[in-house]
Amino acid sequence: MPPRSCLPPSRPPSGGRRLRRALALLACLVAPAVAAQLPPYVIEDGGIAAPLAAPGDAARGRALLAARDPANCILCHAAPGVRFAGDLAPPLDGVGARLTPAQLRLRLVDSSRINPATIMPAYYRTEGLTEVAAAWRGRTVLTAAQIEDLVVYLSTLR
Ligand code: HEC
Repeated sequence: MPPRSCLPPSRPPSGGRRLRRALALLACLVAPAVAAQLPPYVIEDGGIAAPLAAPGDAARGRALLAARDPANCILCHAAPGVRFAGDLAPPLDGVGARLTPAQLRLRLVDSSRINPATIMPAYYRTEGLTEVAAAWRGRTVLTAAQIEDLVVYLSTLR
C-alpha cells in the first residue's frame, strides 16, 4: 500500500495544494532511488557475513547504543553501564559471546528476518515499511557505518 500522498487525488487540487501535491509526488519518486543506493547484503546461515561498510568503532557503537536518538536500543534492552533502560528485550550483556558478528549484523539490519513477529525495529531496511513519516521515506534509521560500529561494540560484550 503506497503512502497516501502517493495516491491520485480524490478531487482536482488547486493553487498551493497543487504545489504541495507535486512536491509529495516528487518525494515518492526520489525515495525508491535512495533505497536503490543501499549496498546490497546477502543473508546466509542466519547472518550477514560481509560488513556493510569499513570496520566499525567500538566507542562510537557504545555511544550510539546508549543514545535515545536515533537508535534508542535502551528503550527495550538493558546494557552494561546504562542506568535507565527498558526490559522489553533480552539484556545485551554477554551478547558478543552468544552471537557472531554476522548474526549481530542481521539482527540490526532487519530482525524480522529472524523473528517475523519481532518488535525490534529494522535499522537498515527501507522496503516493506508502512506509516513512515515523509522525512524518513526511503531512508534507513541507521547508516551502514553505524551498523558496523554497533556490531563491533556488541561483539565486545562477552
Ligand atoms: C522496540 C524494542 C527494541 C528496540 C528499540 C531494539 N530492540 Fe533489539 N531486540 C528486541 C527484542 C524483543 C529482541 C528479542 C528477539 C526478538 O523478539 O526479535 C531483540 C533482540 C536483540 C538482539 C539479540 C539478543 C540475543 O541475546 O539474542 C540484539 C543483539 C539486539 N536486539 C540489539 C539491539 C540494538 C543494538 C538496538 C538498537 C540499535 C536494539 N536492539 C533495539 C527489541 C528491541
